[in-house]
Amino acid sequence: MSEQVGARSGAQSGVQGGARADAAGARATPAVSPVLEVRQVVKTYSVGRSLIPKRRPVLTAVDGISLSLAAGETLGVVGESGCGKSTLAKLALGLETPTSGTVELMGRSLASASRTWRSSAIQLVMQDPYSSLNPRMTVYDIVAEAFVAHPLLAARSERRALVVEMLGLVGLGPHQLEKFPHQLSGGQRQRVGIARALAPKPSIMVCDEPVSALDVSVQAQVINLLVSLQSSLGLSYVFISHDLSIVRHVSDRIAVIYLGRIVEEGPSETVYTQPAHPYTEALLASVATAEFDADGSPAKKPPRIRGELPDPLNPPSGCPFRSRCYKAQDICESEAPDLLPLVSQGHRARCHFPEVDHHQINRTPTTSRMEQQ
Ligand SMILES: Nc1ncnc2c1ncn2[C@@H]1O[C@H](COP(=O)(O)OP(=O)(O)OP(=O)(O)O)[C@@H](O)[C@H]1O
Ligand code: SF4
Ligand SMILES: [Mg+2]
Repeated sequence: MSEQVGARSGAQSGVQGGARADAAGARATPAVSPVLEVRQVVKTYSVGRSLIPKRRPVLTAVDGISLSLAAGETLGVVGESGCGKSTLAKLALGLETPTSGTVELMGRSLASASRTWRSSAIQLVMQDPYSSLNPRMTVYDIVAEAFVAHPLLAARSERRALVVEMLGLVGLGPHQLEKFPHQLSGGQRQRVGIARALAPKPSIMVCDEPVSALDVSVQAQVINLLVSLQSSLGLSYVFISHDLSIVRHVSDRIAVIYLGRIVEEGPSETVYTQPAHPYTEALLASVATAEFDADGSPAKKPPRIRGELPDPLNPPSGCPFRSRCYKAQDICESEAPDLLPLVSQGHRARCHFPEVDHHQINRTPTTSRMEQQ
């Protein structure tokens, strides 16, 4: 076995960050060193049609994001379409090169890591199980693809057994090996996508909207599968979604992104029940809330978001959220707020007027969409 395989096996053999505290949902802050560390990463794209490249407008998809992921932890990344979630995922996977900033996997710079090592460290579960699987490949070929691309990961003689093992992990039997994607249901296809990601035995999985293309009836099954794989294999997840109720259900911590920047970050339950940033409050407005507080008074509902995401080529001055913010004041136009710590531990927000003396939004009696299934 290669040095690369050895590097991943420790994490896969059961390093648990201790992040998921109990089944009831109380989550503790992980206390182990990060498996993924993103530091001040910026990603810009030249877009538009000018013949002179330097005159092309520059779109900043990711604007100075820093985050870390501990072993066994799930970091939820949430935000509207176009806010930079997938670009961040691609940067973490090494599929895009940062314009500036650094990405480290298990203490090792992504820039200097080989593709085989990277493949055994971090894998992607994609959004759409219909388009992400090659219709001309069988289930066996799809799951074994990583071994063909990176022969050092598994000897030829081991591959079939490994593919069967991966299918078993996602609840599919060996009788599915010779099937083509069109012969599978949406849920089965996504299971194949997960088995393909598991094949190189990664320590980290980036799940980019892994259930949003699925029928609601199978979303919970796939989420539950991901959660159980995490605890049995000691995986760490970056879980991306535009749906805060799903992210809250699976995550230890949540980072809320707006126009390429983290605007709020903190323990999952804190962000969910005590959002400090008006954008997070607005995202929460789309999640079902209780009609009444525990004392019988009408539950305080967060304000709904107004307007569309601004043109990322021409974002507002100062705070980029100000054009949609119900709290905006003069300073919000002239000064961009920093991401600053709040009262509760590990909770940060990028707002001149964060909600600190917080009303605890009463969401506990209601069940999230995932829990209802
Ligand atoms: N290769 C590229 N060239 C130019 N612009 C890009 C490129 N990739 C992404 N972008 C732009 O970067 C911004 C962030 O895109 P990204 O795909 O990361 O958003 P997202 O949050 O994943 O959205 P969605 O929820 O719709 O998947 C968007 O404005 C997008 O148009
Ligand atoms: S800084 Fe101002 S505009 Fe931005 S989110 Fe806070 S209150 Fe709203
Ligand atoms: Mg995306």
